[in-house]
Amino acid sequence: MTAPPGPAAAEVFAAASAHLVAGIAERQRILGSGAYETAAEGAEVRLSSGRTVLDFGSYAVPLFGHRPAPVLDAVRGALDGMPVSTRLLANPHAALLAARLAALLDPGRLSRVSFGLNGADAVETALKLAIARTGRPSVLAVEGGFHGKSMGALAVTHDPLRRGPVQGFLGDARHVPPEPDAVARAAAEAPFAALIVEPVQGEGGGRALPPDLLRRWSADAHAAGALVLADEIQCGLRRCGPVSVAVAEGVRPDAVLLGKALGGGVMPLSAVVGTPELFAPLAADPYFHTATFGGHPASCAAGLAALDLLDGVAERLPAVAAGLARGVADLAAAHPGIVADVRSTGLLGAVEFTGEAVAGLAVLEAGRRGLLAAQSLSRPAVVKLLPPAVTSTAQLERAFAILDASCRSAGRRVARTASVGSG
Ligand SMILES: Cc1ncc(COP(=O)(O)O)c(C=O)c1O
Repeated sequence: MTAPPGPAAAEVFAAASAHLVAGIAERQRILGSGAYETAAEGAEVRLSSGRTVLDFGSYAVPLFGHRPAPVLDAVRGALDGMPVSTRLLANPHAALLAARLAALLDPGRLSRVSFGLNGADAVETALKLAIARTGRPSVLAVEGGFHGKSMGALAVTHDPLRRGPVQGFLGDARHVPPEPDAVARAAAEAPFAALIVEPVQGEGGGRALPPDLLRRWSADAHAAGALVLADEIQCGLRRCGPVSVAVAEGVRPDAVLLGKALGGGVMPLSAVVGTPELFAPLAADPYFHTATFGGHPASCAAGLAALDLLDGVAERLPAVAAGLARGVADLAAAHPGIVADVRSTGLLGAVEFTGEAVAGLAVLEAGRRGLLAAQSLSRPAVVKLLPPAVTSTAQLERAFAILDASCRSAGRRVARTASVGSG
């Protein structure tokens, strides 16, 4: 892992603080102890200070580890040939990746693909197609669900804090509680175009929804003439076990949405993989939904190489997932005063603290000690742990030793604050 000499850290943070989002710049400065990121490989990131930190964060992108060699080679190949599409001529990377995804997810059912760059692009596309297909300008989503922050995606994201300032501009979405008859009840009240659901809620705190519940909801949505969109942007591609959790659980979604790791941890890429029925509006009008960089050749080349790495993830998954499950259980046992609950599904672990402040402290302490992790966006008392599949046993042990020390330190600070408050 080598990095070319870069600018001084002070210059980088001054520029970030003055011209990017100052609050985020400050958090990054604290997490990196005043250094910025310079290089990465596997589960580790090198900082400008020369220090190396373990990466269990990164918005769940480096599932295959940072800079997997086959993905880098594929992207270099695309850059050497034709890095940007004309959009007017066929591009082989996009076409072949679409065929691979169609063969991989639910062959014969989910046969059409639309590419975007971010997860929210895929959410926007799927919602737009479902609304146009059914002619119903309303959708159902789930309490605790996260689907992105662009306006359409935010309409289905269940995050009152981020929705509040733009509520009046958001589309018509109702959020149902995780109860078996919630979708049937909603259908009886008013028609909806689609149900969008994360089989494992990532930003909602690492919660897996029961397969029985998902199957019942899907049947009820279909009975009501609505479509089912499985948002697997965070939990799919084997992060939580199967390539698609919804397909593996027999939910029969009309589309699976992928993103984050789809570009191999190297390029931005997302996809809607859906039925011809969902894609009918594009059969009627091919230009109903297009975007300049959708199906970007270098991203699709990365995606093709990433899919080749999925078998390797399947091989590593049992060992890393078991270490993660053991590690969070040990944390809960060791820190009952500040850890309220823990859970994990595959390579998505979650530590629920007794409050948002102590979770924030634990994250900052972990960063200082050499582990990157993040609070869940819409449930900030929960710290998510997202180890890459290539994480070694020694790295997992290091991560949990850091988390143990961080919890101890955060617990002491909480106890001190409480005693000052009561004294
Ligand atoms: C399940 C899910 N859907 C959608 C998104 C939005 O993806 P992006 O941030 O790439 O737009 C996220 C991001 O965390 C996500 O976890």
